[in-house]
Amino acid sequence: MTKLRATITGIGAFVPEYILTNDELSKMVDTTDEWIMTRIGIKERHIIKEKGEGSSFVGANAVKELLRKTNTSPDEIDLLICATVTPDHQFPATANIISDKVGIKNAFSFDLNAGCSGFLYALTTASKFIETGACKKVIVVGAEKMSSIVDYTDRSTCPIFGDGSGAVLLEPTTEEFGIIDTKLQVDGVGRVHLHQKAGGSVAPSSHETIDARQHFIYQEGQPVFKWAVSKMADVSVEIMERNGITPEKLTWLVPHQANMRIIEATANRMGISKDQVMINIERYGNTTAATLPLCLWEWESKLKKGDNIILATFGAGFTWGAMYLKWGYDGKNVKK
Ligand code: UT7
Repeated sequence: MTKLRATITGIGAFVPEYILTNDELSKMVDTTDEWIMTRIGIKERHIIKEKGEGSSFVGANAVKELLRKTNTSPDEIDLLICATVTPDHQFPATANIISDKVGIKNAFSFDLNAGCSGFLYALTTASKFIETGACKKVIVVGAEKMSSIVDYTDRSTCPIFGDGSGAVLLEPTTEEFGIIDTKLQVDGVGRVHLHQKAGGSVAPSSHETIDARQHFIYQEGQPVFKWAVSKMADVSVEIMERNGITPEKLTWLVPHQANMRIIEATANRMGISKDQVMINIERYGNTTAATLPLCLWEWESKLKKGDNIILATFGAGFTWGAMYLKWGYDGKNVKK
């Protein structure tokens, strides 16, 4: 039987209009543009200010652009997976809400939470439905309203995160393109360093949990930083080596955008130069499950059929992973 691979055939994305700059943040907490740029590498981030809107707002807009650009009818979609840590509600899944907003009716959909690794976990999950022949068109969307869980009185976390969404369409191919190899990992001991203390079944929301500011992101920056640097680099090098991808053969590294210093350390370990790395952290910050598709979206016109690409992530859990894919189309031919 001919082997089916899952290949990305289109990208859409959406970021909200409002831009929160470092200068504005400096008026909210004791920080400076210089500290944020030197220690994290972020200049600005987009924030959802539209009243009553959550992650499905940016997610649905990204999916609408994806459907338009790929000339796909919502009826053709078999499955939609939404990677998010900021779902609209505990239930139903934000994937269900996005599907409804864009008119997807002949499909099933669900959310997946793997912290900042959510998009890579979801892409891998989606690829299995394609490779087995169970689905023909699958959408993977990373959608986040991180501003809903950021404490804007905590200077150590509030500069980091932004809101946004990116979505890709996955389809089968019998050619040597698409997702070739993936390695995903988890180590739950890391959960103590990065989590949300209340709002789940262990500590349901109460006046006490709100007074204690337990619905915001809790992060111990330094251990997260150390783990991120070693794990993202190690798994990326492993994926390179086991697929015979030398630094010269690699076209692009697409790393999770959490901290410019983590991105640089990963590139150094892989022996690649900075111009082989997609970096847009300066303008969007860390959009958690949306960072990877936001990079692919911005670089789409430069991507060529056959490009060797490695996606790499690290996030809450701890979760991490890397994927090797051979790009399947010439981005310059895509109508905006
Ligand atoms: O995507 C999910 C995974 N998350 C990550 O990958 C995040 C990983 N961690 C990091 O990126 C970094 O640890 C942070 C950006 C969170 C913090 O940077 P750091 O270089 O580790 O700083 P630090 O926490 O060691 O703090 C150094 C100093 C402290 O002051 P003292 O105690 O030395 O006087 C902080 O209070 O910097 C201070 N500080 C700030 N100063 C100005 C912390 N935040 C700020 C700030 N502005 N915004």
